[in-house]
Amino acid sequence: MRVTVVGAGYVGAVSAAVLAYLGNRVTCIERDPARLAAWRRGNDPLREPGLGELLQRLDVCFAPVATDLAESEVIVVAVGTPMASDGRPDLEQVETAAAQIGSRARRGAAVLVRSTVPVGTCDRLQSGPLRAQRVVSNPEFLREGHALHDAFFPDRIIAGGPPDAASAVEALFRRIIDRRVLPGDLGGDEGSRAPVPFRWMSAASAELAKYAANGFLATKLSFANEIANLAQSVGADAAAVLGSMGLDPRIGSQFLRPGLGWGGSCFPKDTRALQAIADGMGYDFLVLKAAIDQNARQLRGFAAAIERVLAPHSQVGLLGLAFKAGTADTRESPAVALARLLLQSGMSVSAYDPAVRDLPAEPRIRVRSTLADACEAADAVVIATEWPEFAAMDLRAIRRATRGDVLFDGRSLIAPSSAAAAGFRYAGLAGFIDGTTTTKAVASPRLGTAA
Ligand code: UGA
Repeated sequence: MRVTVVGAGYVGAVSAAVLAYLGNRVTCIERDPARLAAWRRGNDPLREPGLGELLQRLDVCFAPVATDLAESEVIVVAVGTPMASDGRPDLEQVETAAAQIGSRARRGAAVLVRSTVPVGTCDRLQSGPLRAQRVVSNPEFLREGHALHDAFFPDRIIAGGPPDAASAVEALFRRIIDRRVLPGDLGGDEGSRAPVPFRWMSAASAELAKYAANGFLATKLSFANEIANLAQSVGADAAAVLGSMGLDPRIGSQFLRPGLGWGGSCFPKDTRALQAIADGMGYDFLVLKAAIDQNARQLRGFAAAIERVLAPHSQVGLLGLAFKAGTADTRESPAVALARLLLQSGMSVSAYDPAVRDLPAEPRIRVRSTLADACEAADAVVIATEWPEFAAMDLRAIRRATRGDVLFDGRSLIAPSSAAAAGFRYAGLAGFIDGTTTTKAVASPRLGTAA
């Protein structure tokens, strides 16, 4: 089949790779010249593991404009829907793509909307610019850093729109549903042989299913963060508590790792959008609102704990800039947000991240090329991203390089006893831990250079 994918970001480039791998003739349209040039050179501008290599083996045509639209039987919309200032998604790119598709695509072509859009968007496009095509909401559930795995071995495929489009969409993903992709070839393989659930529903349901999944995961994380904070405050072991919760299959062990709060290009945007959807209907979505508030409080609370301990002009060695381990993406990164709060209170920040080499958006953060450089003469070391490299770092060597002796662990990566053995005072998410006891950071003396 001929397929046009509009947008070559995470969702678009991965969709293009998957659909080409499944034997379709794919053109992928990208309007950003730098990103387009990188794809055309065979480089992956997103640095998503395995994606560049896979695309090099496939015959995907990257182009600045949609040349094949009129011939395409399937068109995938995977453009950005960034958060506007009112918290709602900005649909400008979706509208532009829809106008182009509507004027040039063939009658009856299936338009798969994979951009995350507010409930009702697909129906509106169907009765507007795309009235001659069949508009299907087909949300993606891939995680950055695992995008290929998640796209080839999904937990479910969700799609919704006009009933006569269902069989075409199911046929498009038949090999994935039947697990007839070659796992070894893609570096994966799932023990499960059961077919991937394919759920067909209304477009509005599919749109809401995406927000519901991200909203629920974000809420689960906010709850886990609350439990971790409380555990530390009462002298309980957060890892033991959360680990035991995860053994209940109704809860599940994933998304219980406490931290500085959730970030990235999806959760913050999608939770705000879901709240806006509820607000727009006059529905007070209490639980979601609390999760969003808790997420902001989580980060502010950690920054405040650091500020209570360090003098205003202290030097911080920040470990991590990416919003999570396994990606170079710093969009809505809690690590960067934390650095900004510390900078605001007068501290200076040197940072190291295994995947982030520079941060033009925040020149006040001095990005170093090694962990040791970032910690050199620091008054405190702050772990902000859960890179395995930080869990395995030589704490004694780091302590020799630092001026101060506090280690703030925002990702619960280090055992307090290991930190103590290396000469650090360990502060976790809710304060200092000294052996088995917890003391509030507020009670600790200030460290570092005086203001
Ligand atoms: C998320 C969802 O997991 C995907 O299913 C979804 O498709 C994607 O958003 C999207 O909407 O496109 P992603 O943003 O790549 O994927 O990141 P996650 O791995 O879900 O992590 C989100 C945030 O939660 C990160 O800040 C991460 O550090 C944090 N997190 C995650 C924790 O703090 N603890 C955990 O146990 C898990």
